[in-house]
Amino acid sequence: VRFHRLHPDCAEVDAAEQFDALRPQELAPADRPYVLCNFIVTADGRAAFHGRSGPLGDEGDKEVFHRLRTLVDAVLVGTGTLRAERYGKLVRRPERVAERERRGLAPNPLAVLVSRSGDLPAAPMFDDADQEIVAYVGARSPLDGAAATVRLHDLEDGALRPALEHLRERHGVRAVLCEGGPTLTSALLADDLVDELFLTVAPVLAGGGNDPSMTTGPPLPELRPMRLEWVLEREAYLFLRYRLTRER
Ligand SMILES: NC(=O)c1ccc[n+]([C@@H]2O[C@H](COP(=O)([O-])OP(=O)(O)OC[C@H]3O[C@@H](n4cnc5c(N)ncnc54)[C@H](OP(=O)(O)O)[C@@H]3O)[C@@H](O)[C@H]2O)c1
Repeated sequence: VRFHRLHPDCAEVDAAEQFDALRPQELAPADRPYVLCNFIVTADGRAAFHGRSGPLGDEGDKEVFHRLRTLVDAVLVGTGTLRAERYGKLVRRPERVAERERRGLAPNPLAVLVSRSGDLPAAPMFDDADQEIVAYVGARSPLDGAAATVRLHDLEDGALRPALEHLRERHGVRAVLCEGGPTLTSALLADDLVDELFLTVAPVLAGGGNDPSMTTGPPLPELRPMRLEWVLEREAYLFLRYRLTRER
């Protein structure tokens, strides 16, 4: 899949070459994984349409979504997203597995879930014997009949920093991709746990309604500046990569 790169320079690129140099593991701080977030929004800022984000995407977005999964040790999602979207085994296609192995990563990333309630939604990933799942839960509910390996760890008060530290120390995760949703992303931002944002702006409008934006809940104490790392365009979709910084 090819993109027009508009920033930092103009060029025609294919996804493989654009993502090739990214090694998020090398950027990890000592005590937690490096955290990338990936989101798609409509041009009017909605992260879903009638409850689902799938209709917002196209081929270019799918390419970015799956490319990012080839770069990381683990994929983190909230239970709202798990409930709304079909989450099966995270990396399936042989060429993507091969790309992960070329990078020295396990064939399939670890799935990391967080839930205060401990009520993990039934998702196809639980039925896949090849999918390893780690869940940080505020309360334990029985998980019957999962074919996947599921490890449960305690989560105190929804505190994500200790969970990420545990993920690093216990599971060796140095780079994690958070695929949302808005509640989880806001909690990560509030605890200053996001390092990069991959934001796709779809050339569509959702209008009003109750679908969330990328974030929800209380605002940050102050605006969080970001540095623009790249801009790609394909079929009127914009693919923005930002790094979170301290100063504008
Ligand atoms: N456009 C996109 O790229 C994109 C991406 C993802 C999702 N979405 C959309 O977003 C919507 C879902 O939104 P959402 O906010 O409900 O999703 P979410 O953030 O995935 O899920 C929220 C749930 O995750 C758990 N959680 C979040 N933060 C936590 C914390 N700090 N500690 C413990 N558990 C925590 C809680 O689970 P418990 O209730 O089990 O305690 C919470 O109810 C869907 O419409 C989906 O399509 C869009």
